[in-house]
Amino acid sequence: MKKYSIITAMLTLILFTPSYAQKGSDQKMDQFINNLMSKMTLNEKTGQMNLPAAGDITTGQAASSDIGKKIREGKVGGLFNIKSVSKIRTIQKLAVEESRLKIPLLFGMDVIHGYQTVFPIPLAMSCSWDMGLIEKSARIAAQEASADGICWTFSPMVDIARDPRWGRIAEGSGEDPYLGSQIAKAMVKGYQGDDLSKNNTILSCVKHFALYGAAEAGRDYNTVDMSRIRMYNEYLPPYKAAVDAGAGSVMSSFNEVDGIPASANKWLMTDLLRKQWGFNGFVVTDYTAISEMINHGLGDLQEVSGQSLRAGVDMDMVSDGFLNTLKKSLENGKITRAQIDLACRRILEAKYKLGLFEDPYRYCDDNRAKNEIFTTENRQASREVASQSIVLLKNDNQLLPLQKKGTIALIGPLADNKENMAGTWSVAADFTKSVSLLSGLKDALGNDAHILVARGTNIVNDSLLNSRISIFGKPTYRDTRSQAEMVAEAVEVAKKSDVIIAALGEAAEMTGESSSRSDINLPENQKELLKALLVTGKPVIMVLFTGRPLALSWENAHLQAILNVWFSGTEAGNAIADVLFGKVNPSGKLTATFPQNVGQIPIYYNHKNTGRPLPEGAWFQKFRSNYLDVSNDPLYPFGYGLSYTKFEYRDLKLSSTQAKGNQIVSANITLTNSGRYDGAEVVQLYIRDLVGTVTRPVKELKGFQKIALKAGESKSVTFNITPEDLKFYNADLKYDWEPGEFIIMVGGNSKEVKSAKVNWTK
Ligand code: BGC
Repeated sequence: MKKYSIITAMLTLILFTPSYAQKGSDQKMDQFINNLMSKMTLNEKTGQMNLPAAGDITTGQAASSDIGKKIREGKVGGLFNIKSVSKIRTIQKLAVEESRLKIPLLFGMDVIHGYQTVFPIPLAMSCSWDMGLIEKSARIAAQEASADGICWTFSPMVDIARDPRWGRIAEGSGEDPYLGSQIAKAMVKGYQGDDLSKNNTILSCVKHFALYGAAEAGRDYNTVDMSRIRMYNEYLPPYKAAVDAGAGSVMSSFNEVDGIPASANKWLMTDLLRKQWGFNGFVVTDYTAISEMINHGLGDLQEVSGQSLRAGVDMDMVSDGFLNTLKKSLENGKITRAQIDLACRRILEAKYKLGLFEDPYRYCDDNRAKNEIFTTENRQASREVASQSIVLLKNDNQLLPLQKKGTIALIGPLADNKENMAGTWSVAADFTKSVSLLSGLKDALGNDAHILVARGTNIVNDSLLNSRISIFGKPTYRDTRSQAEMVAEAVEVAKKSDVIIAALGEAAEMTGESSSRSDINLPENQKELLKALLVTGKPVIMVLFTGRPLALSWENAHLQAILNVWFSGTEAGNAIADVLFGKVNPSGKLTATFPQNVGQIPIYYNHKNTGRPLPEGAWFQKFRSNYLDVSNDPLYPFGYGLSYTKFEYRDLKLSSTQAKGNQIVSANITLTNSGRYDGAEVVQLYIRDLVGTVTRPVKELKGFQKIALKAGESKSVTFNITPEDLKFYNADLKYDWEPGEFIIMVGGNSKEVKSAKVNWTK
């Protein structure tokens, strides 16, 4: 018996221990897992690979529930979106005291932009271009989530998105692969820290692998079809950056890649992710992504579950496919025992690294939640990130910052609203604790100015649409008065005021999952309100709540000031007030292009030139790549955002215009704050590769620095460019650079840049 188990253990070690062991990683872990796996039955192994939905299970129900039964039988590897230490402790207890092998469960959650202290939506945070703050937001999220029993987050979401119709653009970092990669790294670091086994770090899960943001027509879950060269150069870099940063898990996306859904795509999950990128964590599918492959037309549950395992997927979220079909597939020779062992092993490794085998209740410290969640410091951090994420889109005649005096009319359906401040995917938020804009303004103003409030209109007038967006405890409270009545009241209020703040835009759930829009204008009833307010002749500042770029051509043409506040999180009202009254000078810069109209989509700054480009500044020219009815320009380009002060760029100089090999070329520019306020500017470096063996974008972001300058101050800003910055994937998907001429551009957004040329030889 003893001899048998030694042989089995050795065989297991030789056959099923993947490359990490060869790389000399934790031998103690390998021994532990080898030993554990030698005791596991097939069912217990597939049990680890099962991540069922727990529903809204209460602590009392846990033991008697169906899930409870499955846990005792060793048929569950983890659960998700359950919170609170007491609940998680009760459920964990079932696993470690009542199941045969006492293997602890993973407890995951969609901790996307903060936990109870909600930070701005990810798209907003990316506009801060501040990696330190973004990392800090993830750190705080991990601290709070882990204090509530969670050890695994389904974040960062790093899908590149160029289509604002897609509601999930709100959850990512916009359109740029370089910036997206930096943010992916910062977030993984923030969640995981440098030691996963600490009780305040959590396992991250980079998602949705891959290309989910490229769903056709911006319709969620829709087909994706893309060339390899575009994947490698434009869509894959942020996932890779997260993997390189050590993300412990990856979530497969719903969409297909090259005609095969991601969850059954062996090229994606094994050849690329593991062999090329060296990922050694585990892959979990997205919610029911395995069973959805039946609808994709790949076969029945038996078939698609086997395909998924063979592709390299380790854990099945909610489909019950691995749990219920793999045994038969094994008997039929469709899959191998080694494939099951490998998947099971990867999940056990994650549990080991989190320290769960040592202490399954590591994340269940009863004392932590009350001291570490929603603390004053955390809220302060959220307020800071929020004020840094706000983007000033228009500010004619320096209407902003507002002075704290006179009478201010605060008008709009989002003026006094808490539920929608947190934005989409704020699972752990307590909306009653969010700061509304009205309350933020009142706090900031004290007795210095008078505020008059009117609702003006509903978010949307269509009651069916309203019901579709009033979900997840974020009602949009429809006022039953008529539009005319509400507008009339607002106009009266406006007339008595010196300035109007119009709090308009989307409800939180107009973006996020399954919230695509074919029309990305401000709802017509809100525009009507704006028109009525403009007639009063009072200056109008639109404070815009949105989870996506909107088509704001009309608003841009008619309003004096537009402050895009996205969904700023728990401290929304305070952060917006900080910016409105100039306590914080806005420095946010857009990370997704705002189109002039929906017909321009997809529109992104790093596009190709085409064979018939429109000359810079031109509108229509026959037989050029353009439209009859709208120019090619965006309304607000990538990288754009105003400040209360003025920044000037002068004297772009390269250290050399003839470079060779691995030389460093420095690009230096003088940045001056020539306005009246202290402020910060995100200085952006773009490069264009003029001639290539494949077509290259008209410019690509390759660096940025956020520079704080006092009014009147100047600073010389330097970027060191190396051939690493010139590399791209060529037609053979080889990552290298090609000699030739490059245009180096530096500026405050992707359109307004100073440029210089360098000739770089090998
Ligand atoms: C979403 C994922 C999320 C998962 C678990 C899915 O519907 O696409 O982003 O992590 O649900 O809640």
